[in-house]
Amino acid sequence: MTKKAKLTVEKLDKITAIALKRGFFWPTAEIYGGTAGFYSYGHLGKTMKNKFENLWRSYFLKNNYYEIESSIILPEKVFIASGHIEHFNDPLIECKTCHFRFKADQFIEDNLKIKGEELTPEEMSDLIEKNKLRCPKCNSWHLGQAKWFNMMFSIPLGAVGIKDTAYLTPETAQAAYLAFKREFEATRKKLPLGIAIIGKAFRNEISPRQLFFRLREFNQAELQIFFDPDEINKLSKEEWKEISKYKLILLSQNQKTAKEFTCNDANKKLKLPKLYIKNMVLVQKFYLDLLKIPKNMFRLRELSEKEKAFYNKIHWDMEINLETLGGFKEIGGIHYRTDHDLSGHEKYSKENLHIFYNNKKFIPHVIELSLGVDRNIWALMDIFFKEEKERTLFSFPITTSPIDIAIFPLVNKEKMPEKAKEVYNLLKKDFLCFYDGSGAIGRRYRRQDEIGTPYCITIDSQTLKDDTVTIRERGSMKQKRIKIGTLLLELKNLK
Ligand code: GAP
Repeated sequence: MTKKAKLTVEKLDKITAIALKRGFFWPTAEIYGGTAGFYSYGHLGKTMKNKFENLWRSYFLKNNYYEIESSIILPEKVFIASGHIEHFNDPLIECKTCHFRFKADQFIEDNLKIKGEELTPEEMSDLIEKNKLRCPKCNSWHLGQAKWFNMMFSIPLGAVGIKDTAYLTPETAQAAYLAFKREFEATRKKLPLGIAIIGKAFRNEISPRQLFFRLREFNQAELQIFFDPDEINKLSKEEWKEISKYKLILLSQNQKTAKEFTCNDANKKLKLPKLYIKNMVLVQKFYLDLLKIPKNMFRLRELSEKEKAFYNKIHWDMEINLETLGGFKEIGGIHYRTDHDLSGHEKYSKENLHIFYNNKKFIPHVIELSLGVDRNIWALMDIFFKEEKERTLFSFPITTSPIDIAIFPLVNKEKMPEKAKEVYNLLKKDFLCFYDGSGAIGRRYRRQDEIGTPYCITIDSQTLKDDTVTIRERGSMKQKRIKIGTLLLELKNLK
């Protein structure tokens, strides 16, 4: 193993150990040995996920954009119309000796460092034969042909014998298309209209791996923006002026490394439409400004014709450089899905999904902002994990840390616990607070550092004399004294 690969594994193991010990996440049904591709969130992971999802809501849902909720089991016709029955496939290989089944493109990528996603099953089988690759489990030569495998989980509806097949939804997006007609009418027939869903998605991944990166049950936050296709390259002068000089970090098909493009250049040189660029800016700012992902760790990457999802005309992924997973990894995508989905649903449901708007009749087009919540949570844990001489910490910004403020009485006597509870009650409406009344103070600080709590407040003997407390900042470990009377305001300013 190379030194870099060893460090990668070590960091991954360290973060996972903290996650298990402190309550971020663990394998589902762990006491039965777990099932590959399923993870559950513990109390810290769940708070962090809630915070992440609420941040996403408050940032993306503005103007005519709304959140809805839908069933996650949808009838087969939905996925015939969307194209998932025909196209939502992964290439599978079965070892003829031990019958182990695995993902052919990943196998080729791992062994030959060739982008497997761009190959047909026949090309994959040829490469495997030519390079004499062996079964990753039993080392046999005897491998079957690569074949397409549909990744949706089917569900038999009703009593045994009834043949109504339904599927667990493989993306939240389809429910937004099913809701479009109702929502367009209920929200007074305006475009652009955004329909957002934060919810579960299910994919029967052949080889689940890399923790939150290839799960069989996962969470998505997706926003479908419905618009008039004639306006894809039209933004108001003010809107364009506001972003035209903003620099996007882009890796297009013709580049080897990512570089900055102004929005003007993205429009003129890369021929990206202005509405699409506006959404790239929105997404990049979410990562750099809100989540505080360092600029050199983020990029938007254009997918090749063969890599693009079957429903996309333009497809760029958001990627973050993750040390634990060996480089830049996809955490979301910006998809120009055209009228692919609505047209499909119109055809198969026989429901008229055309609208009358801007003095014409048409089917709206869609730009989708899609991200995987779990992958984003892991990305934050990777990016903000730090090891120092005497402590390990997560340097999460307060917007994503599982706990905002920990409150400690220095000792568990002399009226300090009572005062500390007063402070806890003062802050708990506005902040996620945690009270810890026992143990050496240094150890209590370390425990909070380890889970990424940005501030610790300590009530000591001085507090009892002058109503001041100390606030310790996680990064610098510096403490300052402030009056309890101004605490709430000071802390709100730090948010
Ligand atoms: N609605 C569009 C869509 O589903 P996608 O690229 O297939 O597009 C969107 O998925 C995001 O969902 C991905 O960028 C990733 O963050 C997340 N995702 C997809 N498959 C996943 C899996 N098996 N495990 C965890 N997250 C996954």
